[in-house]
Amino acid sequence: MNIRRSDVLVIGSGLSGLMTAQLLGLDKNVIILTKGRLETSNSYLAQGGIAAAVQESDSWYSHFIDTIQAGRLHNNAETTKALVREGPAMVHKLIEYGVDFDQELDGHFQYGKEGAHSLSRILHAGGDATGKHVVEALKRHVTEKRMVVEGETAVELILQNNECVGVWSINGDGKLTANIASSVVIASGGYSGLYPLHSNASTITGDGISLAYDAGALVSDMEFIQFHPTLLVKNGFGVGLVSEAVRGKGAILIDEQGLPLMENQHPMKDLAPRDVVSRVLYRVRQDGRETFLDIRNVPDFQRNFPTITRLCVENGIPLEKGKIPVAPGAHFTMGGIDVDEVGRSTIKGLYAVGEAANTGVHGANRLASNSLLEGIVFANRLADHLINEPLRIAQIDLKWHGLEILKQVPSHTQLCEVLNEYAGIERTSEGLSQATEYFNQLLQKTERIEAPTLEQIQMRNQVLIGWMIATSALKRTESRGSHFRTDFPTQDDVQWKQKRIKRGKFEHEPFKSSSGA
Ligand code: SIN
Repeated sequence: MNIRRSDVLVIGSGLSGLMTAQLLGLDKNVIILTKGRLETSNSYLAQGGIAAAVQESDSWYSHFIDTIQAGRLHNNAETTKALVREGPAMVHKLIEYGVDFDQELDGHFQYGKEGAHSLSRILHAGGDATGKHVVEALKRHVTEKRMVVEGETAVELILQNNECVGVWSINGDGKLTANIASSVVIASGGYSGLYPLHSNASTITGDGISLAYDAGALVSDMEFIQFHPTLLVKNGFGVGLVSEAVRGKGAILIDEQGLPLMENQHPMKDLAPRDVVSRVLYRVRQDGRETFLDIRNVPDFQRNFPTITRLCVENGIPLEKGKIPVAPGAHFTMGGIDVDEVGRSTIKGLYAVGEAANTGVHGANRLASNSLLEGIVFANRLADHLINEPLRIAQIDLKWHGLEILKQVPSHTQLCEVLNEYAGIERTSEGLSQATEYFNQLLQKTERIEAPTLEQIQMRNQVLIGWMIATSALKRTESRGSHFRTDFPTQDDVQWKQKRIKRGKFEHEPFKSSSGA
């Protein structure tokens, strides 16, 4: 067995993980572990940009109101205030690191507009390649002074006296490593990759959240999954994202007859909150109609949106017709590892940041372009905390006990179909009960084996996440933001206001039969 030691181990190489590593400076010895390549992350794919009240005419308060309105007041008010107040300073930090946000000819920033924002406040880079520009800038700094381990999957947290002291990882050849660290930071993203149509990197399937749950950390809000209205589709498959910024520049949603779809649906029309727009498109499509973005009014489309232009060209979608085929798909997950205002989970030594964490800033539906913002603001808070944390580990008794895997393994496609059918844009008690039953059955029969394959490990993680989504969505008997129940179609503030559904260790186990593990 291989052993690696560091002060801080960061799992995941998206913006929040890289930023945490960068901000820890030379005070801590940091290792970044990622199951893919350094660039394999949702952050890298982010098109829209970073929302922040940077300009004179804007204010943190206006950004705060937009954020909690989109989040249907399910947000944590304190962490949300921190997000919008500390955002502008962190944007300037990115500029210091070399991020070249797009500017007007007079040198002022260009500000884009996206859904549910009351004014244009989205900074972007390379037109619609913001994530790539931000990650590339940070990567240059981080790789100079940090060890980055690529192609290695974190498979189990190492606990000692109920405290986290590291993580076991396995590489592509099945080689096991014990990564010992005083602090472990999960920055491995959310779980949108568990839906058949999604905008995420294919590696984003909730692994880090399962790891934390298995170790006993609380996980919350798993029922809140944001479906982005405009994934680019070809032959029924998602082939990328069409940024909301395109609607911010004048595109509108239409059906195949050219009928505008958002006209009488919401005062903000095509720039209504994402959950509202996605539901409208979902219903139109359930009706058997196709959905498109009419881009004829977007000025200089190819120059403003080079990434989307490339995606269209690569997929043989002609832009000259001014009509891009789109459909809603899973994009961002609000649920995750329950953390406090600096990223501490309920287990000592274990932290989470970015989409893997639930800081409460997004409520029931994230406001557009607040995710990169969350990544940098909470990375800064976490780094400030970790810099002052004393190193903890003295002696560790390392013993590998193998891992629990499922005896009956579903295909990833089948699991995605179940979630899509029963825990998708519209949900019912009946469907969610069926999904719960499906996941319970799978989780009943498990066994612990010494040398599981990565596929076996990941399938159990995915089934566990599916179980958390289905059971949490079944429990929330109301509709709020991204969680829509046709049998409870209204928001129920009496029963549910500010209530989080949490999942804790072994909660799935009452369903296990005696023939189980
Ligand atoms: C987009 O560009 O539409 C996505 C940005 C985001 O998810 O906030």
